[in-house]
Amino acid sequence: MLDGQSCDEYSCFLELRIVERHSMEQLLSSLNLPWTPDWAAIFGVERPLILDIGFGYGHSLAHLHRTRPDHNIIGLEVDNTCLLKVEKAIARHGWHNVRVVYSFAQTALYHLLLPGTLHEVHINFPDPWFKKRHARRRLMQRDTLDAIVNRMVVGGKFFLATDILDYAEMTHELLAQTPGLTNDLPTPWANAMPERAITKYERRALQEGRTCYYFAYHRNQHPAPDVPVIKELDMPHVVIKTQLTLDEMLTRVNVPDYAGEDGTHVRYLERYRGERSVLFDVYVHEPTIEQRISVVIVERDGTTDEYTIKLGSIGMPRPTAGLHIAVGRLRDAVLQLSDSIQIIQDKVRGG
Ligand SMILES: C[S@@+](CC[C@H](N)C(=O)[O-])C[C@H]1O[C@@H](n2cnc3c(N)ncnc32)[C@H](O)[C@@H]1O
Repeated sequence: MLDGQSCDEYSCFLELRIVERHSMEQLLSSLNLPWTPDWAAIFGVERPLILDIGFGYGHSLAHLHRTRPDHNIIGLEVDNTCLLKVEKAIARHGWHNVRVVYSFAQTALYHLLLPGTLHEVHINFPDPWFKKRHARRRLMQRDTLDAIVNRMVVGGKFFLATDILDYAEMTHELLAQTPGLTNDLPTPWANAMPERAITKYERRALQEGRTCYYFAYHRNQHPAPDVPVIKELDMPHVVIKTQLTLDEMLTRVNVPDYAGEDGTHVRYLERYRGERSVLFDVYVHEPTIEQRISVVIVERDGTTDEYTIKLGSIGMPRPTAGLHIAVGRLRDAVLQLSDSIQIIQDKVRGG
């Protein structure tokens, strides 16, 4: 276990997180948007929605802006350089119908988008370093494709391009096992699609002589797989009464890693001593979202023997089931320290 860090390190940690947060606040993000957002209000007008996943330097977004002026286009990216570049382009060129969101595709599909709302989905050159052994981390997999199908309107269009033959074959197999989508091409894929915009990655692939593989499907009448929209839970917190001091909790508490059967992982990392609190830096991975957040033990105002265990405000925490597990793990670890600890209030799910 790591020892508690000094106050100076604590302030550094806070500063770092504030800088990170400041830059994130320039952008729409799956961490700062409501789950689910009112897209018509965000665009200023209700129009059919198009989703562009992993837009990179935004060539496809520019093309969609020009060719679909009567649609609202949501671009998803996780690369901050790409996001800031395209945000500037939106402002500079007045792309009235384009908004970019910092989000993993999986997070947006499960938390930001309602069933039957997407009129087009575009995925250009995902997972460029694809290896079959990386299957777990790739974008195109059963769960993500089911979520895409669920979020599409009947008649909506699905497009995907890749320059990796293995990826094309894997995508073809996956699409062939997707009754909600129908192929619009006479072959599994095409090797040219003249009406599309050439993206940055595609131009390089073509210049380097690589073959590209293009897929074009539409959403048919087959019932969609059931993929619920995941909402936020209440904020988890626990109030305890104990003779233990903050310093004892800082040095003695041991929170083991958690790995749930549903793929949720919780890992307690560093810990820091504040004036009236101990702060834990925590990584929580859930199948639809990853969060790096803080969990704190704070002295309750006006008491010397009562403490609240709750999410810290740094890291923009979204109270998911995983974050309830994270707070519950610290509660359980603190309870291990003494038989005489009393729980006064427990607002942890399942706790
Ligand atoms: C090879 S680049 C292609 C960029 C662009 N579409 C093009 O064709 O030039 C893949 C992009 O997808 C983004 N990306 C990867 N996984 C993602 C995910 N799960 N959700 C959203 N974006 C993702 C990466 O940050 C990267 O910018």
